[in-house]
Amino acid sequence: MITQAGSPGELERFVRLRVGGLPLEHVLGWAEFCGVRVAVGPGVFVPRRRTEPLAREAARLAGGCPVGSVPVVVDLCCGTGAIAAALAAAVDRPLELYAADIDPVAVDCARRNLASVGGRVYQGDLFTALPESLRGTVNILIANVPYVPTEAIALLPAEAREYEPRVALDGGGDGLDVMRLVAAGAPRWLAPGGHLLVEVGESQAELAQQLMADHGLTSRLVEDEDGDVAALVATRPVRAG
Ligand SMILES: C[S@@+](CC[C@H](N)C(=O)[O-])C[C@H]1O[C@@H](n2cnc3c(N)ncnc32)[C@H](O)[C@@H]1O
Repeated sequence: MITQAGSPGELERFVRLRVGGLPLEHVLGWAEFCGVRVAVGPGVFVPRRRTEPLAREAARLAGGCPVGSVPVVVDLCCGTGAIAAALAAAVDRPLELYAADIDPVAVDCARRNLASVGGRVYQGDLFTALPESLRGTVNILIANVPYVPTEAIALLPAEAREYEPRVALDGGGDGLDVMRLVAAGAPRWLAPGGHLLVEVGESQAELAQQLMADHGLTSRLVEDEDGDVAALVATRPVRAG
């Protein structure tokens, strides 16, 4: 991982790349997320500050799992694996940690970030990437899915449009296509009482809560420190209702 320019020549190269539009995290090769330094490879989605409330809530819920159990945590659509890495750093107990992404470049990056905390990283389309043995056992399922409506991609900053893969951004017509698939699949993978955490914006929150309810999950919203909606926690009831 590059941490800083090692020479004036290298500094000049970094500045040239940055002035040319390359995101700072891609220039340096790392980003800070929840106080953890995470490697960010070329072409991988840069972890965002606005995702930190989701990661903190996931860590709080993992920490609250019954004493003596080893919480099973899955970071689906993991990108760099930043959320899983932050959670592992924040939770002071053993975890069974899994992550998956459809993009092989992201999978390579997440493997680097999660090796030191024993995270196992798989490549594939949503739940199909996971070992079957995890069905019905997941305590904390994180899915920061792409959720930008297709038409709004053109309005994103050039840094995102040009240097992050489309598959990391495009959530289809209303932005919720991938979240719909996650909501539909989650009840089969969550343990009773297990939680699914997704990032949502204010404008999509109501629809996202309805999606969760359609699949028998009760949900609540998580706010950031300014009181804005940042994430949604959907919970599988302990007993089927
Ligand atoms: C918004 S990024 C989030 C990355 C990371 N979780 C984070 O918060 O920094 C969405 C990620 O979902 C992945 N993705 C998109 N569609 C997917 C699918 N069908 N199955 C698995 N991963 C998918 C993308 O490759 C991308 O890494």
